[in-house]
Amino acid sequence: MVQNPIIAIDGFASTGKSTVARALSQHFRLPFIDSGAFYRGITLFAIENGFVKNNKVDQGGLEPKLTELDFKYDSSSSHLHLNGQNISEKIRQPEIAKHVSSISSIDFVRDFVLKELRALGTDGLVMDGRDIGTVVFPHADYKFFFIAKPEVRAQRRYQELKEKGVVTSYQEVLNNLIHRDKTDSGREVAPLVKAEDAIEIDTSELNAQEVLSSAVQIIESK
Ligand code: CDP
Repeated sequence: MVQNPIIAIDGFASTGKSTVARALSQHFRLPFIDSGAFYRGITLFAIENGFVKNNKVDQGGLEPKLTELDFKYDSSSSHLHLNGQNISEKIRQPEIAKHVSSISSIDFVRDFVLKELRALGTDGLVMDGRDIGTVVFPHADYKFFFIAKPEVRAQRRYQELKEKGVVTSYQEVLNNLIHRDKTDSGREVAPLVKAEDAIEIDTSELNAQEVLSSAVQIIESK
């Protein structure tokens, strides 16, 4: 196994990327970084400051305001702070999920997050997202790409949100996942695509422990 590896996990919404990335980081004692939290954080900021109106993003208004954003990410708890406030729970709300894909398709937003992510370290880490193995760390030592059936993903995410007390429905969650898959895959900048050298894992029929075991095996054998 490579020393101080970069482990990149990309894939579709709610395929278990963060769960497995966190478990891998504990297994190999590496920091875990949830890149999606940054896009969700900017989305929260945009909504709270009135830059999202009638499902449209006021890009001209948002761009100069990005300089006011001060993110602090704690990789041990994976808590994200924005301008001194812990936003880790707020960014999981369906309202954020609804707008995050349009915010994350904006080029200046991606430039901003790319710099934030690379500033968190350039080796010895596990990061999950959509463009980690293709854009953020194209030379990552290990690359995984997670896929799963939409219905399975929606059921998992719905259950997760229900347990957190978030008010939503299975149908709303499913619609949101389908919408984000489409927007994330179809955008011009850093679209969601499998890196040529990524190993694909279909998590539809596997639990988190089984996915973790196969990822650990792959990493330890190379
Ligand atoms: O956990 P889940 O799969 O729901 O998504 P997430 O990782 O929290 O990411 C939320 C959204 O952020 C995605 O739907 C993408 O629009 C965007 N994202 C991205 O564009 N690039 C990344 N590296 C990570 C997330």
